[in-house]
Amino acid sequence: ALSVIQDDTFQQKSILITAGPTREALDPVRYLSNHSSGKMGYAIAQAAASMGAKVILISGPTALSCPSGVQRIDVESAADMHKAVMKAVSDCDIFIATAAVADYRAKHIADNKLKKSDDELTLTFVKNPDILKDVAAMTPAPFSVGFAAESQNIAEYAQGKLISKKLDMIAANDITAAGLGFNSDRNALHVFWKNGDIKLAPDSKFHLAKALLALVAQHCKNKTP
Ligand code: CTP
Ligand code: CA
Repeated sequence: ALSVIQDDTFQQKSILITAGPTREALDPVRYLSNHSSGKMGYAIAQAAASMGAKVILISGPTALSCPSGVQRIDVESAADMHKAVMKAVSDCDIFIATAAVADYRAKHIADNKLKKSDDELTLTFVKNPDILKDVAAMTPAPFSVGFAAESQNIAEYAQGKLISKKLDMIAANDITAAGLGFNSDRNALHVFWKNGDIKLAPDSKFHLAKALLALVAQHCKNKTP
């Protein structure tokens, strides 16, 4: 007989995940964006679904297909992503922000294609809303997990974001580590919470996703809604 392994870690739980980059239009043909393949967020979505969760994935433009059993909502800009998250967040227990959200958008989007003229071009940008910070500030807030891609002072910057955004957990990765992170299928994470941390050694993004979600499962029990 075929035995089906049923992982019910997140049975009855609803998990909302952001992934991929955002695109901030400059004119009808150009945009400002971030390096992000979306692979880490999609791996978390797939792993969460395999652990029994109801998963909603709010994704910027990526080349990836939607993992089975996951509901994907496609967005382009940070403003679109913010709106889609705020609409979906009320019935979710856990929010995991892996998206590389553009911190700024053009103050004015040109109606027509910008023409080449002077040797220098100056554009004015305005700050985008912080999706993760806004979710973590809600009452009640879901168990909120951030990601921090850092090139230096990794622990210090990640712990700073944990506190300033009032997060329950943050997963930091060193973007200078060879063969890991951007566009790679592998990564390494240093995960921090209020009173502790753990280093997850280099592994496939899917295995890291499972390990991170196991930590989330342990810690979200302690969160009183
Ligand atoms: N994030 C978000 N909305 C934004 C900016 C960031 O939801 N407008 C989330 C990211 O998805 C990530 C976390 O916040 O989970 C940290 O993002 P990061 O870019 O590292 O931090 P910032 O607060 O934007 O600070 P900085 O870029 O200056 O390091
Ligand atoms: Ca940022």
